[in-house]
Amino acid sequence: MRISVIGCGYLGAVHAASMVELGHEVVGIDVDQRKVAALCAGRSPFYEPGFDELLQHSLGSGRLSFSTDVADAAGSRVHFLCVGTPQKHGEYAADMRFVEAAVESLLEVLQPGDLVAGKSTVPVGTAAQLAELVAGKVPGALVAWNPEFLREGFAVRDTLHPDRLVYGLPADPADAATAEALLDEVYAPIVARGTPKVTTDHATAEMVKTAANSFLATKISFINAMAELCEATGADVKQLADAIGYDERIGRRFLNAGLGFGGGCLPKDIRAFMARAGELGADQALTFLREVDNINMRRRIRMVELAREVLDGSLLGKRVAVLGAAFKPDSDDIRDSPALNVAAQLQLQGAVVCVTDPAAVDNSRREWPHLDFAATPEEAAERADAVLVLTEWRQYRELDPVAFGAVVRQKRVLDGRNALDREAWTAAGWTYRALGRRAS
Ligand code: UDX
Repeated sequence: MRISVIGCGYLGAVHAASMVELGHEVVGIDVDQRKVAALCAGRSPFYEPGFDELLQHSLGSGRLSFSTDVADAAGSRVHFLCVGTPQKHGEYAADMRFVEAAVESLLEVLQPGDLVAGKSTVPVGTAAQLAELVAGKVPGALVAWNPEFLREGFAVRDTLHPDRLVYGLPADPADAATAEALLDEVYAPIVARGTPKVTTDHATAEMVKTAANSFLATKISFINAMAELCEATGADVKQLADAIGYDERIGRRFLNAGLGFGGGCLPKDIRAFMARAGELGADQALTFLREVDNINMRRRIRMVELAREVLDGSLLGKRVAVLGAAFKPDSDDIRDSPALNVAAQLQLQGAVVCVTDPAAVDNSRREWPHLDFAATPEEAAERADAVLVLTEWRQYRELDPVAFGAVVRQKRVLDGRNALDREAWTAAGWTYRALGRRAS
């Protein structure tokens, strides 16, 4: 099938290349000339494990192209909307400009019988509105909502092996059947594998995405609230998470206490969800998400406090190494990164901060030019008074605390992600501190 993918960021670029892998002919459209040039040359514009290989393989098949001209999407049967919906400046609501512009431009190429399949995370009600717009301009063209649940760092695997497919279909039964058949054809190998499929209406499909992200954010903030209590009582949040996680109804995943969630999705999605609930007169239903957000932001403040505590009560002039800048490991994404947020606060309060990251230094330097950066943990930690591990890259989890101890001035480590081997670090003479755990 001929397919177009509008928006080639983390979501769209991976989706485009993956659809080629499923046997289709795909054109990816993006307004960013540099991004398109990189993708055409087989270079990923962002760090995502396994994506370069997938991209080159798909380009090699001759069935993948990229363009800045939406006219190249003409002739495609399904058009996937993969543009971003960031938080509006100064507001909680989602900024829908990119979605609106993408649909507006698609109207020029849409043909009756084409399907616009939305993947972007949007406020509930968007699909129905777009369907009306599309039907008014191109009678016979349809809109479905087909949310995407990929995680950065696992984007290729999550796209090719999703744990479920969700189709939000048009209200008219004949249109719904047409849209479902088209999506089934797109995802044929995934459907054939018996992947669970939920067919539903537009609004439910839109809500599945925001509800899933809200649940995940709540789970993280729950364990971080427990971490606050552990700090007050002397209990250990890691053991607590292990113990409650054995209950299958609870589960251990997403119960890692630490610096909390960041990134381009969870923070802005829960805020946009609250804003939308307010517009719908249902804000009470989501007031708990405000607390989820609060707990999450408090962890960053607590981390700075913990650093001050460890540094004998003052940050002034103290050398601090920050290991990790990306919002999570295996990504170069620094959107709302807790690690960079803490690094910047430490510097503002007088510490001499040096940040390192295996993939995100270039992005970080662009956004935070006033911070100092180093290429390796050893360089960042030279003569440091404290080392803060704020993104749990494998390289940092596997650091040898004995050898690393020779680099620093003071062997003090703050494990912002509860990811280090506490025993090994303390055995090597380090003062080890972590959120939600006793000092050792
Ligand atoms: C998330 C959703 O998981 C994904 O399904 C959706 O499509 C997009 O948003 P992503 O933003 O890539 O994916 O990251 P995720 O793995 O969910 O982590 C989000 C943040 O939570 C990270 O900052 C991570 O460090 C933090 N986190 C995660 C915790 O603090 N504790 C945990 O136990 C898990």
